[in-house]
Amino acid sequence: MSNTTRDPSQLRSARWFAPDDLRSFGHRSRIKQMGVDTPEYQGKPLIGIINTWSDMNTCHTHFRDRAEDVKRGVWQSGGFPMEIPVMAISETFMKPTSMYYRNLLAMEVEELLRCYPIDGAVLMGGCDKTTPSLIMGATSANVPSIFLPAGPMLKGCWKGETLGSGSDVWKYWAERRAGNLCEDSWNELEDGIARSPGTCMTMGTASTMMAIAEVLGLSLPGSSSIPAVHSAHNRMASACGRRIVDLAWDEIKPRDLLTPQAFDNAITTDMALGGSTNAIIHLIAMAGRAGHQLDLERFDEISQKTPLIANLRPSGEYLMPDFHDAGGLPATLNQIKDLLHLDCQTVSGFTLGENIAKAEVIDDKIIRPLNNPVSETGGTFVLRGNLAPDGCVIKPTAAEPRLLKHRGPAIVFKDYKDLKARLNDESLGLTADHVIVLQNAGPIGGPGIPEWGMLPIPDKLLKEGVRDMVRISDSRMSGTSYGTCVLHVAPESAIGGPLALVQSGDFIELDVDARRIHLDISDEEMAERRSKWVPAEPRFQRGYGKLFTEQITQANEGCDFQILHDGPETPDPEIH
Ligand code: FES
Repeated sequence: MSNTTRDPSQLRSARWFAPDDLRSFGHRSRIKQMGVDTPEYQGKPLIGIINTWSDMNTCHTHFRDRAEDVKRGVWQSGGFPMEIPVMAISETFMKPTSMYYRNLLAMEVEELLRCYPIDGAVLMGGCDKTTPSLIMGATSANVPSIFLPAGPMLKGCWKGETLGSGSDVWKYWAERRAGNLCEDSWNELEDGIARSPGTCMTMGTASTMMAIAEVLGLSLPGSSSIPAVHSAHNRMASACGRRIVDLAWDEIKPRDLLTPQAFDNAITTDMALGGSTNAIIHLIAMAGRAGHQLDLERFDEISQKTPLIANLRPSGEYLMPDFHDAGGLPATLNQIKDLLHLDCQTVSGFTLGENIAKAEVIDDKIIRPLNNPVSETGGTFVLRGNLAPDGCVIKPTAAEPRLLKHRGPAIVFKDYKDLKARLNDESLGLTADHVIVLQNAGPIGGPGIPEWGMLPIPDKLLKEGVRDMVRISDSRMSGTSYGTCVLHVAPESAIGGPLALVQSGDFIELDVDARRIHLDISDEEMAERRSKWVPAEPRFQRGYGKLFTEQITQANEGCDFQILHDGPETPDPEIH
């Protein structure tokens, strides 16, 4: 119920601080321990600033300072800010993969929002998994929250050429392996590819998920593309601080905003942006926390009626700072407003339609008009067939069109180690027509469904000028990657999905228009191979790895833990 009277006794934190008893004495005396006197906090919403800052997360190095901007806003609006550092999932450094830890951060956020006297939360994230983790945790705890996006880093530069995170790394690594790039140039690229704090500045997973947080109504309008080092980013952080105080008083919670219509808006936006394939897994998991089941088919249905209009790498030409100056997400959404549920509520206090009503496209080379899209249909398609009975995905806009209908012999690698060891073995006789298959790279097999899905092309073929081949795996790929890569094959090979049964020399048929992926062997042969398939010994005998293996769901189910799915509400702790 909304606390419209702004009665301090109704604040959640009042249960910790207001009673005249021993425990509350302890709580109050420990606030004073920080040098904060009673009038500075008593009767004010306590705002938790959930900060994923860490030296290990190089995309969030500005968050230490930004937390101060948030605090400024909270004080201005009559709240009491307290910063709470949480696990800083770093896309760059974490092994086996950052995705392995998405649910761990989500659990941490959910539990700390529940166990502390928090009336409202500012969720500071952006580097790939941090956004879904924070939102999943806040949705399960259902405490009023606003998402503060880290924003993209500056554009990269090398010898006058603009460099995009990830995409240009993959491109020039292929040139290096083809013998076209010397060591000095490679080192210069290292100097120029990441030039400031902020997230990857292509339309990779970070940019996609920050945009999705905004269209879901969890961020302030226009915030998701503000470059991390832009002064507007400081101002936006302060505005988040001001706004969360109102949200806390009004008790506007994530589940009030995360309706099925809001998730449809998120999928539509993902398609119009040419967003990362990873968004599919994250959106399914986030919807699950809000009590809504999202099926893969919904993504394909919306993809078919949504034009891709953001001309951003890897599907297009430009980068996130260009996108911001061209009008950013509000202008993009205004272009596709007829495809959106405009009456969805947002943290701004206005509906989505009201947020975007006046947004204008400044540069239509970057945000294209509907009659001149980058692609008539959205960025991600869902495929099915006997190789992926529970579905798989492909990003056709990032693939060579000639390969979208292809039949070729499989070359199978049983895991990533095998791929690295044998890919360049010339005795394999690989040709550009081969279909490269990687097994045991899914949620359990990876573990953590790593971003290996843009499987490397053999050096010999690179030297012959080949830059794309059909590649299939149960892994993910970075949102900055490209190529004809079939991803998220479900069920995964580590639990005996059909991908585990493919043998080198089998023919595989890919027909993206027909949404079909087919292993060309008989049903009898498939059954025979299945009867002989033996699962690997469990990798983990204890700890988080064991919990992960026992609880993780498949890619088409969002890779959330089964115990974290929506269910009866978890009660707040008793206050003793
Ligand atoms: Fe952090 Fe790409 S590595 S967003």
